[in-house]
Amino acid sequence: MTDADDFRALPKVELHLHLEGAAPPDLIRRLAAEKSVDLSGIFDAQGSYAFRDFRHFLQVYEAACTVLQTPEDFRRLTLAVLEQSAEQGVIHTEAFLSPDFCGGGDLSAWREYLAAMAEAAAQAQRDHAITLRGIVTCIRHFGPAKARATALCAAETAGAIVTGFGIAGDEGAGAPRDFVWAFDCAREAGLGLTAHAGEWGGPESVRAALDDLRVTRIGHGVRAIEDPALVERLAESGTVLEVCPGSNIALGLYADWRAHPVAKLRDAGVKLTLSTDDPPFFHTSLCAEYAALSRAHGWGPDDFHALNRIAAEAAFCDTATRADIL
Ligand code: ADE
Ligand code: ZN
Repeated sequence: MTDADDFRALPKVELHLHLEGAAPPDLIRRLAAEKSVDLSGIFDAQGSYAFRDFRHFLQVYEAACTVLQTPEDFRRLTLAVLEQSAEQGVIHTEAFLSPDFCGGGDLSAWREYLAAMAEAAAQAQRDHAITLRGIVTCIRHFGPAKARATALCAAETAGAIVTGFGIAGDEGAGAPRDFVWAFDCAREAGLGLTAHAGEWGGPESVRAALDDLRVTRIGHGVRAIEDPALVERLAESGTVLEVCPGSNIALGLYADWRAHPVAKLRDAGVKLTLSTDDPPFFHTSLCAEYAALSRAHGWGPDDFHALNRIAAEAAFCDTATRADIL
């Protein structure tokens, strides 16, 4: 089983997917045409998103977001992304949702955008049997003040769709301690917590996310492998890593699938799950990730089933939803 199609029927739980980062390029081009926005600079000759490195990736990502201007745009985006995920055999997905791109962090605007996304989620659940939960996400390089506004949006709308809070963006911008207020606010609202760390930052960045933000899941976290004591701490505490190997390879963090530490982390007893991060940006899909891991490490259906059980157990959802996806 080494082709992406071989893994399509396997039920999957994906915990790390950026809603805007999963936008099909065709949808972004269509929205740009409808709004007369020139976005030609962010695509290559084949029509894919084009970027040179991680910082440039963030710029291209934010440029694509400029055509997502209304709740209706986000309804269309959410539906397209959930259809794309369902085609990969995903039965439950947790998507990072960014109030910063939905009305700039204003709470009443956010409520309208969220309602539109919830409408799309309900349709996808009916038509494609996929559940969506949202991890409201602040963006590190937008700074702590914006993060506080984002946390208030998350806390005020915690419920059926919004079940988590996180932080993404440039890991080199500011320190986790700058975001303690936002994470405390989200925790008090009963939200599950995750933070991007150990992607562009080393083990100290993962430690700071654990100690200062008190998260139970880490986005990426793979650079923990550089510190055996941290790997042991992750394994003992049961912290779950949302690992996105194709993203790390596409962004140049690791040379190839065999050089990626996912197998070493798993063998060290760290709980991990597999996700795609921003699939069209990285020319990947969840089935393609499984196929590449199967080729690189000989992983088969039993291995992937075990990882999906970890994901279902770590999902930020209620017990009835968890029972459905386990
Ligand atoms: N936002 C979207 N993708 C991201 C990534 N891989 N790291 C940090 N922030 C992101
Ligand atoms: Zn991410």
